[in-house]
Amino acid sequence: MSDGYRQLLDATIQHLEGLKSRGVRHVAITPETLRALALPAAKFPVSNFPSPFSKVAAPSVIKTEPAISMPPKKTAAPAPKPQSLGANPLPDITSASPEKAAAFTALRERALACVKCPHLAASRKSVVFGVGSIDARLMFVGEAPGADEDEQGEPFVGRAGQLLTKIILATGLSRADVYIANILKCRPDTPGQSAGNRPPTPEERATCIPYLQEQIDLIKPAAIVALGATAVDGLLGKTLGITKLRGNWQMYRGIPLMPTYHPAYLLRNQAMSEKRKVWEDILQVMEKLEMPISTKQRNFFLPA
Ligand code: URA
Repeated sequence: MSDGYRQLLDATIQHLEGLKSRGVRHVAITPETLRALALPAAKFPVSNFPSPFSKVAAPSVIKTEPAISMPPKKTAAPAPKPQSLGANPLPDITSASPEKAAAFTALRERALACVKCPHLAASRKSVVFGVGSIDARLMFVGEAPGADEDEQGEPFVGRAGQLLTKIILATGLSRADVYIANILKCRPDTPGQSAGNRPPTPEERATCIPYLQEQIDLIKPAAIVALGATAVDGLLGKTLGITKLRGNWQMYRGIPLMPTYHPAYLLRNQAMSEKRKVWEDILQVMEKLEMPISTKQRNFFLPA
């Protein structure tokens, strides 16, 4: 066993022990990650993909049950309430170099303990760090966790997330093949309201963006898809407007970035023309990554 791997293993064990000592009894892990642990996935498998945005059931990667449980602590004292940890999934480091995996694990540890926005640290259930392969060639960046994401500790698991998952599957990839993160790692609080979301403030964005920058610098994806105005503005510092920018390649720290509409917009506006726009943006990304594109894929959402 190499030193780097041993270091990573120790860091992971330490992290799990830390969770356990804080009363956390379960660690959520997606079925895909479990499968990937057993058999590392090919980078771009051409699978039997469904149509994007189709009404097929959401894939099983949207987890409902924690798959790994730890035995209860043998002390009489009641377990303390977990602090801002949620069920944050461990990163998929199966194919990464030991150094990269260790750096990513350390970054995640720092982010999970972050209290730079005291109001968000107080209101959050989870720090939603990100999910997927840290060797992914394709990365999706959204706005901020919503209630479902805060609950589950994983980005894009609510309704908009299920649509994003369908889009990813339509390319022939799975959530485990890509990396998904947000501009903000904590859910923007909504004091006095039991439900609802709000966009991150410029201060919250500026405070949180260094974590995402570090994530991107470590992952080094070949392309980034920025979902919606907040993601585009947050990464590019431009406020040109998503309608003008979408479909046009930009550069972010040397990485091609494709702005497109947020899946939540497609849930609000069900017009085929809007779905086609997003799909055309995704086709551009697939071309950039030299992924195979079938005629069927090319023709999604074109009038018959
Ligand atoms: N919307 C986002 O921008 N990010 C999420 O994680 C979920 C919904």
